[in-house]
Amino acid sequence: MKAIVQDAYGSADLLELRDIDRPVPGDDEVLVEVRAAGVGPEVWHLMTGRPYVARVALGLRKPKNPVRGWDGAGRVEAVGAKVIEFKPGDEVFGNCEGSFAQYARAKAAKIAPKPANLTFEQAVALPVSGMTALQALSGKGRPRPGQKVLVIGASGGVGCYAVQLAAMYGAEVTGVCGPTGADFVRSQGASHVIDYTREDITDGPHRYDVIVDNAGLRPLPVLRRALTPRGTLVIVGGEGGTSFFGGMSRGLRAVTLSPFVGQNLRNLISVARREDLLTLKDLAEQDRITPPIDRTYPLAEAADALRHLEKGHPRGKIVLTV
Ligand SMILES: NC(=O)c1ccc[n+]([C@@H]2O[C@H](COP(=O)([O-])OP(=O)(O)OC[C@H]3O[C@@H](n4cnc5c(N)ncnc54)[C@H](OP(=O)(O)O)[C@@H]3O)[C@@H](O)[C@H]2O)c1
Repeated sequence: MKAIVQDAYGSADLLELRDIDRPVPGDDEVLVEVRAAGVGPEVWHLMTGRPYVARVALGLRKPKNPVRGWDGAGRVEAVGAKVIEFKPGDEVFGNCEGSFAQYARAKAAKIAPKPANLTFEQAVALPVSGMTALQALSGKGRPRPGQKVLVIGASGGVGCYAVQLAAMYGAEVTGVCGPTGADFVRSQGASHVIDYTREDITDGPHRYDVIVDNAGLRPLPVLRRALTPRGTLVIVGGEGGTSFFGGMSRGLRAVTLSPFVGQNLRNLISVARREDLLTLKDLAEQDRITPPIDRTYPLAEAADALRHLEKGHPRGKIVLTV
């Protein structure tokens, strides 16, 4: 089968289209004939092995799994001995490591039936970003109707779903994005937009009940100043920071401080699970969330898709068609 493979950590220049053996699913896995794969920061981290701390899990010297990709959508080709939820021919979407390939293995617990009203390309724009937004806006992070929510990095993969979900919950949403993203962020359901090149999140009188922080690595005191005294901050991500820890140290500081202050400060590490995929499927089938696709690329141009992610200010998700 054809797959996008890399032998060492590094830039998109190292990605190669090669013929390799089909993977064999384990007992609790299915083999998916991949029709579309998602391209987001998660794939960039797998490709570059950055921040370095991630290599403890991904492989110290080179990637343990040389095939790139994280999210996949396609048809079940074969199922492992213990899998009872799926059968060959089922259309599925979800976490499918090594999805930049014609076939990929997926844990049965991390995939779900594809939303019936979505194409494979639309469906694959949902899993990691949609689950992350759903988990960020859960528990104390779930806004009540009328509450004010700030989504930082609102035009990206996670941000667009955070805006859609917060608006669906009845919150008044403000999105933070770059100079060209305002119309897109409004189209996702935001009532207000802050252009981060012209305005700070603490400018103006607004304080937010919930802040979902996806980008910009703003210092904790700045984020806390924008939050109401009993508000909830959910740190999701942000690129840059030190080469060893990336932006992760802010999250650790937030969690350490949270028990001693009135505000609830969370650091999110999202988990891929079928339950959340089923929630996203229902919401998509009821037209309550819509996956926005920035651009699609054929599998052979995966390297260009990654370069676009690095430079291109994507609006929503980038997708590979396989
Ligand atoms: N914690 C977890 O489990 C988890 C799960 C998934 C993702 N993540 C992380 O979450 C982050 C976001 O992921 P994503 O898929 O949404 O990325 P993405 O699609 O690249 O989107 C990033 C967004 O941030 C905006 N942005 C860039 N600089 C900004 C700044 N200084 N202030 C405010 N917004 C800014 C960009 O807008 P412009 O293009 O207009 O500049 C873009 O809308 C990444 O770091 C990713 O690794 C974490």
